[in-house]
Amino acid sequence: APVSPPDPTNCVPPLLPGENDVNCCPPSPIVDFEFPSHKRLRHRRPAQWVDDDYLNKYKEAVRLMRALPLDDPRNFMQQAKIHCAYCHNGYRQKGFPDHNLQVHGNWLFAPFHRWYLYFHERILGSLIGDPTFALPFWNWDNPPGMAMPAIYTDENSPLYDPFRNALHQPPVIVDLANEANILDPSKQIVNNEITMFRHVVIEGISPSLFLGKPYYAGCEPNNPGAGSLEKGPHNNVHRWTGDPTQPHRIDMGYLAWAARDPIFFAHHSNVDRIWNIWKTIPGGFRRDFNDDDWLESSFLFYDENKNLVRVKIKDCLDSRKLGYDYEYVDDTPWLNVRP
Ligand code: C2O
Repeated sequence: APVSPPDPTNCVPPLLPGENDVNCCPPSPIVDFEFPSHKRLRHRRPAQWVDDDYLNKYKEAVRLMRALPLDDPRNFMQQAKIHCAYCHNGYRQKGFPDHNLQVHGNWLFAPFHRWYLYFHERILGSLIGDPTFALPFWNWDNPPGMAMPAIYTDENSPLYDPFRNALHQPPVIVDLANEANILDPSKQIVNNEITMFRHVVIEGISPSLFLGKPYYAGCEPNNPGAGSLEKGPHNNVHRWTGDPTQPHRIDMGYLAWAARDPIFFAHHSNVDRIWNIWKTIPGGFRRDFNDDDWLESSFLFYDENKNLVRVKIKDCLDSRKLGYDYEYVDDTPWLNVRP
């Protein structure tokens, strides 16, 4: 067989006696993730309760991100394309040229999106020179947060996206079960709490039922099966937000387009928060996988310095170690609902 190109990450500087500076290895194009040396946690807060100071920072960060050169990996559209590549057959699995790499519909879902937001947030923070900057979360599991957050609906804001459902503007209450019958707001709220309880507590009784079915190297690209975290409120909020007058309900209703809407990041911030909450539910079954095929699975993301960083799932399981946490919302009413 012909020779393949070398792996530049595996270059060993040659030792030539009597010569200094003979490191002929190229600058490594991929660096391995290292935990941030942070002093203060970044606090993600509920989007319905952010103050003006915060909102101005957030808008400025997204404005700057949109204004970066189009080929800069930190540019807003490039960021959206990362999601598209990992969900829309952009990549083959290494060593399996006819198997697409897919991060939806299997156990990669929660950790992939956690890492994706992690780097997105760090880039936003670095653009405004604020390492404590944190994304907001769309608190759709809590009645005061169940409408589309108003901070995303000002047409003159960088947080706006024109491709959303015009009939679902605030104060319309989101339908977490996607049943499409119009309920009065108080009934919809109760319904949503029941939906949360079902998907997170009842159906999410084991790691694979909640986080998704195993997906190994060489696994068939057709989805092994989404967990209840992805299938339930996650998918339904995507669909509910997207514009039904557009093909595929873009932006949010179509995975390849979804991250073009800044609201995507607040939506996924809440999905990520629910993952943390799920692990605190007593009973002992609601814990992360303890399987090396999951823990050692890896992804690549650009960081705020445009370095391409290789990350592993095992390093993202504790969000506080990554330097962020969720502001405590004093009620997660659905945790105690009995349907
Ligand atoms: Cu990668 Cu909400 O989807």
